[in-house]
Amino acid sequence: MELIDGKKISAQIKQELADEVVRLKAEGKKVPHLVAVLVGNDAASETYVASKVKACREVGFKSTELRYSADMTEEQLLEVVEKLNADTDVDGYIVQLPLPKHISEQKILLAIDPDKDVDGFHPCNVGKMVTGLPIYLPATPAGIVELLKRYHIPTQGKHCVVIGRSNIVGTPMSVLMSRKAEYADCTVTICHSRTPDIKEYTLQADILIVALGKPHFVTADMVKEGAVVVDVGIHRIASDKTKSGFRLAGDVDFENVAPKCSYITPVPGGVGPMTIVSLLQNTLKACKGLV
Ligand code: GUN
Repeated sequence: MELIDGKKISAQIKQELADEVVRLKAEGKKVPHLVAVLVGNDAASETYVASKVKACREVGFKSTELRYSADMTEEQLLEVVEKLNADTDVDGYIVQLPLPKHISEQKILLAIDPDKDVDGFHPCNVGKMVTGLPIYLPATPAGIVELLKRYHIPTQGKHCVVIGRSNIVGTPMSVLMSRKAEYADCTVTICHSRTPDIKEYTLQADILIVALGKPHFVTADMVKEGAVVVDVGIHRIASDKTKSGFRLAGDVDFENVAPKCSYITPVPGGVGPMTIVSLLQNTLKACKGLV
């Protein structure tokens, strides 16, 4: 079993991005600028946004965090979006999800200029991804493909089973893994919370990508010997063995599943750090006008 070290690969990519920033500066060109919009104080969202801003700083990108209280109105957030669309200094921006219930995520995502939508969530950009046009790839699926690539894991003709059908991970992941490309070209099955006897499918998986959001959902009896397992989940679990009183766990029962795998991503240090560097890669694309 080989561990897929997302922390190491993301550090390599950050170095590549930092080198690119040095080149851009030397040529007198603009440095990428990412803006993150955070509404309310959801603890997980605060952590994600802080990590994104920190990663920008590490590679030399400009970054701005815009914070608003949970009671801002939808109209007020739409005004923020319109300002960001018009601001020529901003190359790309994200509106961190989830939003407070009184604000329609769909309305906000539709208002984002697709050229600045470095999350790749706008329906125009989703459509371009599905039809294979050059576009910002959604960060988590793109980060997973990058891991497969950097570990030279063969995917062509393999059976990839994706658990989860969210717009952010499961659905775009299934699209990327089935397209005609070097680290893709799989037969793909999507399973979700309404799939009866999920084990029947997971046992057929050469590559199993788990993004269901349930701690330790995938157990050893559900995994084929030699499978590649990618765990997208991240959960805080109570623990009396740590000072903080909790530990992080994924959607996969890592301890018991790992011995059966050819490759597996740990939690933390697997997919998480890759999501952030994919966002930086998209922001660089936006700055260079590559999309
Ligand atoms: N919430 C969870 N993941 C994401 C993400 O990748 N982008 C945004 N904007 N919100 C999220």
